[in-house]
Amino acid sequence: MWFYLNGRFVEEEDAKVPVTDHSFLYGDGCFEGIGVCSGRVLHLDEHVARMFKSARMLRITVPVSEVELRDLILETAACNGMAESKMGYLRPLLSRGAGPLGLKYSNKLGPATLVIIPQIGDRRIAYTGEIETLTAAFSTYHRPAPSSLDARIKANNYLTYIMAFLEAQDHGADVAIMRDPDGYVSEGHGMNLFAVHDGRVFVPQESLALSGITRKHVIATARRIGYECSERNLTRYDISAADEVFVTSSLEALAAVGAIDGERLPGPVPGPVTTAIREAYVKFALETGTPVPARSVQRLREARG
Ligand SMILES: Cc1ncc(COP(=O)(O)O)c(C=O)c1O
Repeated sequence: MWFYLNGRFVEEEDAKVPVTDHSFLYGDGCFEGIGVCSGRVLHLDEHVARMFKSARMLRITVPVSEVELRDLILETAACNGMAESKMGYLRPLLSRGAGPLGLKYSNKLGPATLVIIPQIGDRRIAYTGEIETLTAAFSTYHRPAPSSLDARIKANNYLTYIMAFLEAQDHGADVAIMRDPDGYVSEGHGMNLFAVHDGRVFVPQESLALSGITRKHVIATARRIGYECSERNLTRYDISAADEVFVTSSLEALAAVGAIDGERLPGPVPGPVTTAIREAYVKFALETGTPVPARSVQRLREARG
């Protein structure tokens, strides 16, 4: 596999960053998780735009332009043979950079470290095949208040989500449902959350959760195929008493939730609304994906020197 690291494509054993990198020390950076399916990079421009927004909010200068990052992501997909592979995953990750220990160096670090990590095969990208059914549990961990780090920034520190996920696993659940400090539902531990009541779709407001790219397209898809879909404050009742619940993310696409806190949802899982929206969304995502260019031999030769 070929990894992009600060201006070069290197093989995995050379894809190393210093232990004094502030993302390693403090989680000081941001990232994206991009799905590749059937030779297409999904929602590429939106992932690049979100990465730049996260970096801007964290006051980290991205060492390449948006156009360059887009090209580098495609190049990473190409040199790892993703034009031919059915499923893949790409993780551009930015760190403020390496430097001495101490937050007082935060404004003296640089240049920022930019990597793109590829993965093929061992990561399930659920755009093809049967819809997945997951179980969920409400977490005791809460999303930080918006006056803390804004939930829309895809920052490198995932400890709240990791602890919530481990807690969910302790209860035999796949997904941890997080709430905001006021008790409103925000999202799953790494996915956005939707509920269906009487054929109407509800989703927590964007400012309470990561502004999921899949979430945005699933809302648009639901409306396009005729469902009413509203963004509003949702409580535990809105999720636990729903007819259908589903989650969305670049990795899961759209997966059904079959039980919450050990209680099975009363209807069939996946329900009819979940199934219809998933089918239309997956079709849209694949049709609008950016084709991975053919393997770039020239670039590999340059990388090998
Ligand atoms: C906390 C969190 N919420 C939601 C999502 C879904 O976002 P997207 O659809 O852009 O992948 C993710 C994706 O990794 C996430 O980490």
